[in-house]
Amino acid sequence: MSAYIELLLKKIGMNPLWDYLGYDENGDLWINDICVHELVKKYGSPLEISDLTILKKRGLSWMALTQEVAKEIGFTGGFNYFYASKANMSLPYTLAAYRAGWHIETSSVQDLENLLILYEKGQIDLNKEIICNGYKISGDSLHLTDKYAQRIVEFHNKGFNITPILDSGEVDYFTNLNLKRSMSVGLRMKFGKVENDLELENLVSRHGMGWGEVLESAEKINNSKMLCLSTFHCMVAAAETIEIEQFVNSLLFGARKYFTLKQKYSSLKYFDIGGGIPPMISQYNYRQFLDYFLSGLTDLSLEFGLEAPTVIFELGSFLTEESGFLVHTILQKKLTGASDKNKAEVWALLDGGLMSELPDMFIQNKSFSVFAGSSANCEVERVIFGDLTCDTDGRYPRKNTREEFVLLPSTEGKQIVVFAGTGSYQKMLGGFGGAHHCGILESAKVIVEDFSGETKVHFVEAQNNKTVSDLLGYSSDLLNDLSLDKTDQDMVYRQGESSVI
Ligand SMILES: Cc1ncc(COP(=O)(O)O)c(C=O)c1O
Repeated sequence: MSAYIELLLKKIGMNPLWDYLGYDENGDLWINDICVHELVKKYGSPLEISDLTILKKRGLSWMALTQEVAKEIGFTGGFNYFYASKANMSLPYTLAAYRAGWHIETSSVQDLENLLILYEKGQIDLNKEIICNGYKISGDSLHLTDKYAQRIVEFHNKGFNITPILDSGEVDYFTNLNLKRSMSVGLRMKFGKVENDLELENLVSRHGMGWGEVLESAEKINNSKMLCLSTFHCMVAAAETIEIEQFVNSLLFGARKYFTLKQKYSSLKYFDIGGGIPPMISQYNYRQFLDYFLSGLTDLSLEFGLEAPTVIFELGSFLTEESGFLVHTILQKKLTGASDKNKAEVWALLDGGLMSELPDMFIQNKSFSVFAGSSANCEVERVIFGDLTCDTDGRYPRKNTREEFVLLPSTEGKQIVVFAGTGSYQKMLGGFGGAHHCGILESAKVIVEDFSGETKVHFVEAQNNKTVSDLLGYSSDLLNDLSLDKTDQDMVYRQGESSVI
C-alpha cells in the first residue's frame, strides 16, 4: 500500500464513501464504474460529476432502514418520503429523487414552475405528492411570494395531491379560497431544540407559529368547508448538531402536540419532522435515532389511545450530498519555503474558483473529503490548494480551521484531485450557471444515471466566456442602451434638464 493511501485510510477510516470510491492498481480513483482520470481525459477539467446512482441507493436505503426499525420495535404508524429540492434543484437531481420513489417538497414558486415542466413532459404524474414549505403570502398582491400561493391552488385544481404547510399569516388566505374540492393543509409550529412549553414559548424563530396560534388556526381550518388539516410540521434543526437523545426528546415534545391536536381533529395523519438528517458519510447513528424516536412515538400513541402517525421526512442533503464530486487538475505546485515540518510547504494551484464552487466552506465552515484522482501510488505530501481567483480566501483548507493542509501524492506528473460530497446546497448557494468571482468559468458536468440497472453517462458542456458575457449584459440590449453615443446624448439631455431646474 502506498504511503498516500495508507495515510488516507487512516484519516478517513471505515466510511460509507468506500461503497462507491476505490483505487485501482495504477493509483486512479474510481467512482462506482467510472474512472475519474478517464473522464478528465475525455471531457477535460475542471469537471463536476453527479453520480445519481448514489442518490438512488441512499434514497432506497433510508426507506429500507426506517421500515426495518419500525418492524423491529413494532411501530404501527407509517412513513412518507419527500425530497427537499432546496438541497439541489437541478433537473438531474430532482428527477433522480422522484424516480427513486420520493415525493416532492417545495420551498418556493420556482419549484412549482419546474414541476409544471416535468408534468407537461410526462416525467411526474398526479400520484406524486407535493408538500409546500416556504413563504406563500406577502399580504401585498404585488409581491412575488403571492404567486406561490396562487400556483399551489392551480396545482390543486389540476388534481395534484398538494399540501401547503401554513405558517403565520397564511391561514386566512387559504380558508377564504373558493375551492371546488377539499384541499389538504398542514400547520407549521415554531420549533427547535425545545422540550417543554416554556422553552417553546421563549423560542424565537423565523419559521412557524406559536402553540396558541396553532390552536386558533386548527380551529379556523376545521370551520372552513374545503380545508382538511392533515399535517403537523415541526423541524428541530440539523440532527448532527445535537445529541441524539436531545434531538429525539424535542421531536417527542412536538409529537405530544401532534397527539393533543389529533384528539380534537381526527383528520390529522402526518407528523412532519422536516429535514436535517445528515448524509451517510457523516456516520450518524441513524438506527439509534430511529429506535428512540419510533419507540417514543409508539409510547405516546398508547398514552393518548390514538393511532400512531405517518411520519414525513423531507430530506435533502441525505439524498444529494454524496452524489456530487468536483474534479480539478493541479496546474502548478509552488514551494512556500515553510521551515516548520508540520506545516504544508506546497501551494497546489487548481484550475477553478473554490469560493463559488464550495460556498459552504464559508457559510458553515464545512470541510470536504479530498482525494487524489490519480497517482495515488506515490509518496505523500502536505499541500494547500489555491484557486484561480485573486482572493486570499480562494484556498482550501480555509485559514484558521482545524485542518491546516490536504494530503496529496507527491509527484511531479500531472495530477487531478477530487472533492467529494459536494452534491447538496453548493450549487444552489454558489448560483447555478451564473457569472462567478473573477470571471472564472463554471465546470463542465458529467451526470451518471442508472436506467433499469444500466449506467448512462451524460455530458454537459462547460460554461464559456460568451455565455458569461451575455449573463453580465455585454451582448444584450443593455449594451445598445448604454453605448457611448447614447450615453453622451443622455448625459447632455440630463445636464440640460438639470440646468432648467
Ligand atoms: C423545512 C425544511 N425541510 C427540509 C429541509 C432539508 O434539510 P436537509 O437538507 O438537511 O435534509 C430543510 C432545510 O433547511 C427545511 O428547512
